[in-house]
Amino acid sequence: MVLVVLGRRKDSRRVKGVLVDIKTIIQRASDLPSMPEVAFEVIRIADHPESSALKVANTLSKDPSLSARVLRLANSAFYGMSREVGSVQESVIVLGMRTTKSLSLVAASFPWLHVALKGKGLKPELLWNHCISCAHFSKAIAKNVDNADAEQAFCIALLHDVGTVALYLTLEAEFNQLIIKARTSEVAFDELERIEFGFDHAELGAALAESWNLPKIYSQAIRYHHRPSDLETPDTLADIIHVADILVRGRGISEGLDGAFYLKDQGAFDRLGFESEALEELLTETLDQFKEVDSDPFARAA
Ligand SMILES: [Fe+2]
Ligand SMILES: [Fe+2]
Repeated sequence: MVLVVLGRRKDSRRVKGVLVDIKTIIQRASDLPSMPEVAFEVIRIADHPESSALKVANTLSKDPSLSARVLRLANSAFYGMSREVGSVQESVIVLGMRTTKSLSLVAASFPWLHVALKGKGLKPELLWNHCISCAHFSKAIAKNVDNADAEQAFCIALLHDVGTVALYLTLEAEFNQLIIKARTSEVAFDELERIEFGFDHAELGAALAESWNLPKIYSQAIRYHHRPSDLETPDTLADIIHVADILVRGRGISEGLDGAFYLKDQGAFDRLGFESEALEELLTETLDQFKEVDSDPFARAA
């Protein structure tokens, strides 16, 4: 794993006498169950302007178990395929390389989350439901925004809270303390993280995305998903993920951290320019479609 050195002194704190910074967390996170590297390679290749369907299929084929899960997904009700596909090559042709990229990320991250968080206080199914709901909704929003890449929005939204997982896995006791603090605090949860650790899950998630060599657009949108207006030049994908996160939470679909809340960045809503009723309608529609095929993408595909 490539280490990312952010190196800013303010991005660290002493927690129980031990210096904690993003670099240390990423080092520690590398000892944890890792996501299949091939899934990231598929993202890098599918997002490359000169890539081809064949390249994506060949890359995916390097990991047989990931390929098998992608095929199961491609043939499940989840992606509404009109005909059965029998190989990764066929899947890329029928679904397109960008959708196959999203599928491989779903196929990689769902089991990873379950293995990584098994028996932990942070419930993988709640976090998964929050992330996959944000992913579908972000994709739906992006389809209605000029020049926004819907599959990219899906993938970034699926990963947007990956920093929470890393934080939880590496600083479980401190994180649990923070959750208790959040119950009586009027401070937003990412601010509590910054006060406690010197950085928040969004920054950590961005550093992880960088360590996986994902395109910069991923780390930028992840880093700013709770504060997109902090960016000097607005980033449509960061705006979309923020809006999706806030509205999905508004429907009670959260990672289940009792008492934790996040601030709404009105600027992101204004920049996207949707009527609020239209957004709510789009969300209802997205969640209904999603409910029909189950929130567990492997339940029906198995
Ligand atoms: Fe978040
Ligand atoms: Fe979130």
